[in-house]
Amino acid sequence: MKFGILTSGGDCAGLNAVIRSIGLYISENIKNAEIIGIPDGYGGLIRGEGFVLKENSYSDIIDRGGTILGTSRQAFKLMTIEENGTSRLEKMCNNYKKLGLDCLFTLGGAGTHKTAALLCAEGLNVIGIPKTIDNDIYGTDVTFGFQTAVEVATECIDRIKTTTASHGRIMLVEIMGNKAGWLTLHSGIAAGADCMLIPEIPFSLKAVKEFAKKRVEEKGCCIILVAEGALLSSEAKYKKKDRVFIRTERGESTVTLHLNEEISNYTKKETRCSVLGYMQRGGTPCAFDRVLSSRLGGYAAKLANEGRFGVTAAVSGNHITYNSVFDIAGKYKLVNPQGPIVKFAKSIGIYFGEE
Ligand code: F6P
Repeated sequence: MKFGILTSGGDCAGLNAVIRSIGLYISENIKNAEIIGIPDGYGGLIRGEGFVLKENSYSDIIDRGGTILGTSRQAFKLMTIEENGTSRLEKMCNNYKKLGLDCLFTLGGAGTHKTAALLCAEGLNVIGIPKTIDNDIYGTDVTFGFQTAVEVATECIDRIKTTTASHGRIMLVEIMGNKAGWLTLHSGIAAGADCMLIPEIPFSLKAVKEFAKKRVEEKGCCIILVAEGALLSSEAKYKKKDRVFIRTERGESTVTLHLNEEISNYTKKETRCSVLGYMQRGGTPCAFDRVLSSRLGGYAAKLANEGRFGVTAAVSGNHITYNSVFDIAGKYKLVNPQGPIVKFAKSIGIYFGEE
């Protein structure tokens, strides 16, 4: 059998551990198998590229960040559009056949699984594995890469807290997460943040300014986490593209700098901001992610061995299981503003910027 592997979308810690585990499971359990690494995510498949992955290229990469295959973002909306008579989807299907694949493992986030569903609908044997620091993939309790990002963000916030306290400042820390606030929520609880602004709970500018003023007066400093996708309640009425337009006019992609200025003007206190950015995606996976990635990779290879395709591996409680890719494609797992973790955070005094 010939197995293809690609990593698609934004990278995260644990991708190499998954590749390794798929490889090790196959070499232990399936005779005469060949593994083809497809470079650059769906980009490589569109171009028909692939190379044989030998055991010595994947056996020792459990602790390596990034992806040995490389990755890219390929817009879903372009997949079915014809360019010179052929769509990218058709190219991928043809190249799957040209490469002689019997199965393709797609390691990626929500967008990756949406495209995987297109490939499955064309009759290709695809198995998805859920990756992202955002933890927003529908149908799985957790994604690999998330826990490492939580650890990194928590350590950064811990460090930021001490300097914020020394100077008696207000600090805004921007955390990744465009659609979902999971990373902000978990790292904020772990690091003891005062306030968290997440995409699922639009915030009142006036209320956050008042909160920051009061908190810095009472406690001497204030830590506010701002998820990349956090939005003002006044912006919530706009469609995403209009919001992007308004922010572009202001020369900003996120709300953090605007909020920084507003808080500084209102409180007359020293206010600073730190954007954690790609630090959260890079580097060595934590032990939890190494174990999770290994379990998911081995499980996906087992599914392939059993001939179960058109699925995405998932975590449910302590078990690894799978969902039909058609059931999860196009859906997101977002933070429920009324759910237990937000309720808990509020019960210990964390503020979410509501009126
Ligand atoms: O999906 C993971 C993620 O890191 C998001 O949190 C972030 O919004 C996005 O990727 C950034 O993507 P890019 O690598 O394209 O800048």
